[in-house]
Amino acid sequence: MPQNRIQNNFASDKNRVLIFDTTLRDGEQSPGATMTHAEKLEIAHLLDEMGVDIIEAGFPIASEGDFQAVSEIAKITKNATICGLSRANIRDIDRAWEAVKHAASPRIHTFIGTSPQHRAIPNLTMDQMAERIHETVTHARNLCDNVQWSPMDATRTEHDYLCRVVEIAIKAGATTINIPDTVGYTAPRESADLIRMLLERVPGADEIIFATHCHNDLGMATANSLAAVEAGARQIECTINGLGERAGNTALEEVVMAMRVRHDIMPFDTKIDTTKIMHISRRVATVSGFPVQFNKAIVGKNAFAHESGIHQDGMLKSADTFEIMRPADIGLAGTSLPLGKHSGRAALRAKMRELGIEMADNQLNDLFVRFKALADRKKEVYDDDLIALVQDADTNEVHDTLQVKRLRVICGTEGPAEALLTLTVDGVDKAADATGDGPVDAAFKAIKTIFPHDAVLHVYQVHAVTEGTDAQATVSVRIEEDGRIATGMSADTDTITASVKAYVNGLNRLIERRKKTAPGVDHRDVSYKMSAEG
Ligand code: KIV
Ligand code: ZN
Repeated sequence: MPQNRIQNNFASDKNRVLIFDTTLRDGEQSPGATMTHAEKLEIAHLLDEMGVDIIEAGFPIASEGDFQAVSEIAKITKNATICGLSRANIRDIDRAWEAVKHAASPRIHTFIGTSPQHRAIPNLTMDQMAERIHETVTHARNLCDNVQWSPMDATRTEHDYLCRVVEIAIKAGATTINIPDTVGYTAPRESADLIRMLLERVPGADEIIFATHCHNDLGMATANSLAAVEAGARQIECTINGLGERAGNTALEEVVMAMRVRHDIMPFDTKIDTTKIMHISRRVATVSGFPVQFNKAIVGKNAFAHESGIHQDGMLKSADTFEIMRPADIGLAGTSLPLGKHSGRAALRAKMRELGIEMADNQLNDLFVRFKALADRKKEVYDDDLIALVQDADTNEVHDTLQVKRLRVICGTEGPAEALLTLTVDGVDKAADATGDGPVDAAFKAIKTIFPHDAVLHVYQVHAVTEGTDAQATVSVRIEEDGRIATGMSADTDTITASVKAYVNGLNRLIERRKKTAPGVDHRDVSYKMSAEG
């Protein structure tokens, strides 16, 4: 069998595990996590820089936007293999190939649901499905020498049938066979047994790479992926922050750090530069609108915080009392001194570098102005404050249709709250005065008076960035209008101002989305969960 670039590199090292990142495909499919074109390119660039082997950049047939993003990522990515997803039909596969073919190392990923539950959807008999797999994988392989095939819902597929279809896909030319736990149903021992069984029973299994693709519905995605690797899988499919539908996918940072920290019992290697983890985690949280839970392994705000007295005492004596990894391993600067209003531009640049954020001069100038304004209101500006400022600048842009110009709120124990708001709408100032059940309600009603819309607010979350009453608040919102979902975020020491800016940011993103899609379609015209017919 001819070997593609990945397999050539791989052949020499039996303990090398390929990292396949699907943040831009399975992660982005998560309702509300839609990213803009520019954001997708930025995340792809960060993944490539971090050393991800394969980037699944999108699902090209799903929408023109997905197609454009995958093809541009294919053209500009320097190191990683670029993969596009397709269902099991010729039209999807051709579209995926069109999008990835310019990559230095392209891959087509095609899939079909093989479990009894999924076979029922396209209404194919087992034999008809087997025939379809043969045809589609053969077609993909005629286009590209790097083809990945997935029997969706493999963990609920009858073993005999799974072995039969995997063998067909290998004979038709698949170079990677992915075994998805689509509904997050398996458990570690079963995950390992499945890979072992396939390696033992399927002719030709030793010539291809088995991948594991786990969802986290029972909280076992990381354990299931690692168990599959111990049994012989050599590609882990994962997303940054575990982003993904429902409970998400396997988190890249968890599997990578687990293999690194417990190399003694899991002697597997990746080529991930782990010091880049924290920065990409923050960027994905910002652009997807899905904040990372505080106690999330590796990248949560509390993952390296030692609050309790016993822990702090132990940490002061020796860090390894309670720390199994160093913050620097994932790119978290150690506890360093906060900046204040007398800190200059050079100190700010040095701090941003320390945080892994490289800035062009104009970006730094803009941040400096915002930093000074914050330092006037807040005595000490911590790392997290600066990160919140950067995120705020990234999400709220000067050319947005709606801008918050002025806000005054009257609230307290007496009577309804009142908000007096001025927004600049397409360059024209418009003001409104609204009352409501609390200041946020009043302010959001004022937005609606100025800019009437039918969007429904589904999520409204407030987090304090640091401790203290002068802490900045980051607010994230998720809104929906006619099936289009948009997220917004903002940060400010004034919680109501942050709320209004976050809502306005969500509306700006919705306005962009309105321009691109018809109502009820969101950004996709197909769902990967639909029949394999396309
Ligand atoms: O979870 C799943 O089965 C998938 C496939 C498309 C590989 O994401
Ligand atoms: Zn998936």
